[in-house]
Amino acid sequence: MSHMIIDGRKVEFTDEKNVLSVIRKAGINIPTLCYHSELSTFGACRLCTVEDDRGKMFASCSEEPRDGMVIHTNSGRIRKYRKLIVELLLAAHCRDCTTCVKSGECVLQELAHRLGVENVRFQNTREQRELDLSSPSLVRDPNKCILCGNCVRACEELQGIGALGFAFRGTEAMVMPAFDRKISTTDCVNCGQCRVFCPTGAISIRTNMDEVWEALADPDVRVVAQVAPAVRVA
Ligand code: FES
Repeated sequence: MSHMIIDGRKVEFTDEKNVLSVIRKAGINIPTLCYHSELSTFGACRLCTVEDDRGKMFASCSEEPRDGMVIHTNSGRIRKYRKLIVELLLAAHCRDCTTCVKSGECVLQELAHRLGVENVRFQNTREQRELDLSSPSLVRDPNKCILCGNCVRACEELQGIGALGFAFRGTEAMVMPAFDRKISTTDCVNCGQCRVFCPTGAISIRTNMDEVWEALADPDVRVVAQVAPAVRVA
C-alpha cells in the first residue's frame, strides 16, 4: 500500500484519485469551493492549495497522490494564501450578504469567517449585472458568481443539459447561458442541480410561489417530473 506524510502523520492510500481525497481520508478539513467528488475536477478556486516539503504549492484536488509525498496543509504561508484568495473573491462579489437568501449557508461567507477575513482591501471593479428572473424556478444573480463553474458542470455532467457556460475572459469572465440569453430560453428543465452545487447566492430558488405557479402554468415551460435528489456537496 502507498502512503504519504500529511502534516507529520503517515497516511496510507490506495485508489484515491487526488491528494485532496487522501487529505480528507486523514480527517483533515481543508477549504474547497470548486471541487465536488460527483463532478469533474476543475481546479479553479485554488483554495485547496497545499505545499510539499520543498515549498512547492499546488491545488490538491488536481494532483494525483504519489507514494512518499510529504504534504503540509496548514502552514502559515498556506493560510495567508487562502485568506487572500477569499478576500479577492469577495472583492469581486456584491456586498449584500445580510439580505442574501443564501446568508448562513453560503460557503464563501463561511470561509471568510473561518479564515479570518475581516475586511476587503480591494475595490470591486466588476460591472453590476442584471438579475435573470426569467426562470419559473431559479433566480440567477451574476453579481454573486465566483466562477467556480460548479453549476456549469452539474448541468452538463449530471443532467446532460448544458444550459450554462463560461463567456468572455479575464476580469470579464462570466457564467451565463450561451449568447447572454435568459435562462428561460435555454433547455433548462428546472431541476435545481445548479442551485445545489452553487456555493454562493448566485443561483437561488424562487421564493415567490405565486410567480412560480403562474410561470409553471405556461405550457412552454419544461419541468422535470422529479427534482433530482440533492447530492452531497463536498
Ligand atoms: Fe481545488 Fe478549487 S477545490 S482548486
